[in-house]
Amino acid sequence: MCGIVGYAGPDEALPILVEGLRRLEYRGYDSAGVAVMDGGVRVVKRAGKLSELEDALRDHQTPITGRTGMAHTRWATHGAPTDLNAHPHLDCRGRIAVIHNGIIENFQSLRDRLAKAGHRFISETDTECVAHLVEEAYRGNLADAVREAVRQLTGAYALVVTSAEEPDVIVGVKVSSPLIVGLGKGENMLASDIPAVLQKTRTFVPLAENQVVEVRADAVRITDLDGAEVPLSPMEVEWDLAAAEKSGFADFMLKEIHEQPVALRDTLRGRIDSLGRLNLDDLRMREDQIQDVHKVFVVACGTAFHAGLVAKYAIEHWTRLPVEIEIASEFRYRDPVLDGHTLTLGVSQSGETIDTLEAIRHARHQQSRVIAITNTVASSIAREADGVLYTHAGPERAVAGTKTFVTQMVALYLTALYLAQVRGTLFPAEISDHVEEMQGLPDLVKRVLSLDDQVQALAERYQQARDVLFIGRHTGYPVALEGALKLKEISYIHAEGYPAGELKHGPIALVEPGVPVVAIATECHVYQKVLSNIQEVKARGAEVIAVATEGDVEIGRVADHVLYVPRTHELFSPVVVTVPLQMLAYRIGKLRGCDVDQPRNLAKSVTVE
Ligand code: F6R
Repeated sequence: MCGIVGYAGPDEALPILVEGLRRLEYRGYDSAGVAVMDGGVRVVKRAGKLSELEDALRDHQTPITGRTGMAHTRWATHGAPTDLNAHPHLDCRGRIAVIHNGIIENFQSLRDRLAKAGHRFISETDTECVAHLVEEAYRGNLADAVREAVRQLTGAYALVVTSAEEPDVIVGVKVSSPLIVGLGKGENMLASDIPAVLQKTRTFVPLAENQVVEVRADAVRITDLDGAEVPLSPMEVEWDLAAAEKSGFADFMLKEIHEQPVALRDTLRGRIDSLGRLNLDDLRMREDQIQDVHKVFVVACGTAFHAGLVAKYAIEHWTRLPVEIEIASEFRYRDPVLDGHTLTLGVSQSGETIDTLEAIRHARHQQSRVIAITNTVASSIAREADGVLYTHAGPERAVAGTKTFVTQMVALYLTALYLAQVRGTLFPAEISDHVEEMQGLPDLVKRVLSLDDQVQALAERYQQARDVLFIGRHTGYPVALEGALKLKEISYIHAEGYPAGELKHGPIALVEPGVPVVAIATECHVYQKVLSNIQEVKARGAEVIAVATEGDVEIGRVADHVLYVPRTHELFSPVVVTVPLQMLAYRIGKLRGCDVDQPRNLAKSVTVE
């Protein structure tokens, strides 16, 4: 949440900063601003999307030049998205500028104290108090002043600070929210996420907790909060700039839906040996530790939570271990029963979702072993877990998760089968059969993408719906939840996912003639029961769109429309069935004129609780 970018080097900073913001806009898009060291600190900021800031910069009378600067794109927490509340924020003399991602929890008491001491506040944000704290603490060294300010803050945040007194340096600090340093040649960058620095470098250093960085054109210095220097451990990112572009697609979401076959293949690659056995050394769990697991917890949010729900069915079925799946923001507040025999899986595309990060911290604190399933190399969740299984989906720029959802499910299937392999709960032949089936998933998803014309026709028919229900049983239930989430976030149509058998316990009251009901009705051991549930909504006038297995003739007799998908094992079917639902949400969103890549009120990577 909130995109941060900083640059120090020989080039004009402004275009680099704006380009960086363009690549981070998925992190927040309700206002944007820049600060460039141009004599003093020159700040331009605007409410609205990045284009508003670009217009303001174009209209600026005196061009902004300077080789050091920072920029921000905001997802509002404290204070409405207005020009005044946009970042950067300045101290009383306009000499110190601050941008910020996260929340300063004690900002009100700090603000009261600083105001009493004569500091002038002009915004409603929590961020502004940091500029005044740094002003108060500044005695000739910006990094020291930032350290001093941070000592007074509580919350989870990343900050970047510049000062007219030291125009060649940007100072960053990470306390829970992400910050990376991009290492170039004679130029360096600072950003909340990798895509912003790809324009200059693929070498980066992720900041660890409570680290402060001083970024200059010719040097990067990382220290802890006491000022002790920390050696740099650079890493290389595999993505290139092209991976983060639309490449001819109308939107990132459409591009990412179409990238799913490749993303699935990349996630499976290198994890299966020639005998069909799994090799997951990345989990960093010895065999005796795996044997010792008595219970599995899965913690995640949103779409990642739905992937976790699918994993519950797979892990319980293949390993016979009990699995509890919990929304990460609830997990640590209910005192879950964890110990050294529990294994916690933290699922997060970004690896930075604060609720999931705090949940895995809680689990580790209670002695549970923690494995991260994430798409983001060296993210906070990856670094704090005992082991990590990366989904190799590549950068996801659309706010709605698509390719990362299917790869999360596959990474979780791999984990489940690996546990079964080590614990001996499946025969080797069964494991290699499942592995073979999984290896066919990329091709099946590719075939499903050809349903687009049929999906478009359905989208045209139902684009004006007020409510849409999604129903499914067994693994069809998490798919129903995911289908409903995609539709509501992309098209703003009210949608709900329910276990199909639960409808008659209340939600069926919502069904009236003409209400579209999307039913997940692929072949599985509860197929006949799903058919009965479809009959129940049909009897009340619903129009049923079924997603069913190719060759199923029975479904055509009860559903109004059928999207046929290829047959696969019922535990793997969510990977295939989800795709037409993503496409339906996308097509309806487009017909309704919605910004499908940047839906209102949302941001990718939710770093506030
Ligand atoms: C919805 C969506 C979100 C994320 C959720 C968790 O399309 O993408 O629900 O799944 O915010 O994000 P990560 O996976 O980054 O922890």
